Amino acid sequence: MDKLVIEGGKRLCGSVRVQSAKNSVLPLLAASVLTEKKVTIREVPAISDVACMAEILRGLGARVTFTEGDAVIESEGATSHVIPSRLTRELRSSVFMLGSLLARFHRAACAYPGGCDIGLRPIDLHLNALKRLGVHIVEREGYIFCECQHMQGAEIVLDFPSVGATENVMLAAVKAEGRTVLGGAAKEPEIVDLQNFLNAMGAKVRGAGTDVIEIEGVERLSGAEYLPMKDRIEAGSYLIACAVCGGEAEVLGVKGETLALLLHKLRENGCKIHTKNDKIRIASTGKLRCNRRIETMPFPGFPTDLQAQMTALNAGAEGGALVVENLFETRFKYVPELQKMGADIEVRGRTAFVRGVGRLHEASLVCGDLRGGAALVLAALGAEGTSEVTELIHVDRGYADLEGKLRALGARIKRVRM
Ligand code: UD1
Repeated sequence: MDKLVIEGGKRLCGSVRVQSAKNSVLPLLAASVLTEKKVTIREVPAISDVACMAEILRGLGARVTFTEGDAVIESEGATSHVIPSRLTRELRSSVFMLGSLLARFHRAACAYPGGCDIGLRPIDLHLNALKRLGVHIVEREGYIFCECQHMQGAEIVLDFPSVGATENVMLAAVKAEGRTVLGGAAKEPEIVDLQNFLNAMGAKVRGAGTDVIEIEGVERLSGAEYLPMKDRIEAGSYLIACAVCGGEAEVLGVKGETLALLLHKLRENGCKIHTKNDKIRIASTGKLRCNRRIETMPFPGFPTDLQAQMTALNAGAEGGALVVENLFETRFKYVPELQKMGADIEVRGRTAFVRGVGRLHEASLVCGDLRGGAALVLAALGAEGTSEVTELIHVDRGYADLEGKLRALGARIKRVRM
């Protein structure tokens, strides 16, 4: 087991290159079994969620190799339609596999999915949408069994723009008979990336990025080589780190418009932000004002995956902030850890009332989920004194070489064996 030892109060300067997006790479890996041909996904990040998804693919009988950061998937020999329960529980995203396994084998089975402990995370929208395509679903003893003779394109409307359900429908419908029209779709940039990847494989998908996605089923898909979009959440995390610590940094690989609301909030905090092509520059004095209100929403709203990091920023700023979490009901579980650092935060249901204390102090901190864990690291970077952060398995799910990248910006942070 490792821990991070972080000496707070160092300015962050320099530039940081962003990894490929976790939330894009995972559905792309799920999509790779739609074809028997070779698929290459370039520059996949060295994070444990990717390793877990690769294990799931291997469990199905696919060959997955990593060469110089690229993932090569050859699923010609894949014969299993069952996702091992240990891996489903570890990685919630494996639920997308239902769509691609159904498209490939007309059968799929998985345990109820896992992932971050941040709320109930039901999968009713996924299952109802698959039923509309002609899939029979039986739930028994914590397992979901899906089967269909063939999938038939249909008109589907999601009650809520779920990212995962939108991706699952896309994956299932690309090889269904006829046309599927998905209304109420999620509009996240990662959905557009999945569309581009599927079309590179010969699928006929359009409309991603709007709330209606149209999918014309095709008989077969070919192999493809694809470079995924960059990780806007990782980029946002480094921007917030620089805001908290003070300094001047440049985040490379992400377009400002995919983080528009975060950049607006950081300007409210008193940071100077410049964007050009796929570069975002930030300058911060480290003395920040609180945001009046941050409310998470589906894209293009404020991303729930940056909520914890911004709450940490506000906890060490001047003034007061209201943070409303609309996506996941228990996504404030990291707050008691920030309170150990002197944060003044009261959580009532979906709302956190933050009274900025100007500066947090050192503490021994325990990560409980991926983004909450990142928030603790950022808080420690800005705090007085030397903090320790444990249970790094959570941050390692989504950030490749977090401490190396922060160290390159001038942070005093090291990983030590416990
Ligand atoms: C994805 C992201 C995650 C991000 C989230 C919201 C990946 C791998 N993960 O997760 O990082 O935090 O989008 O931007 O891309 N819901 C239902 N029923 C369903 C499905 C979802 O009620 O069948 C609800 C959820 O409980 C939640 C909301 O919809 O309240 C959003 O969930 P969803 O968009 O599906 O998130 P994920 O795809 O799981």
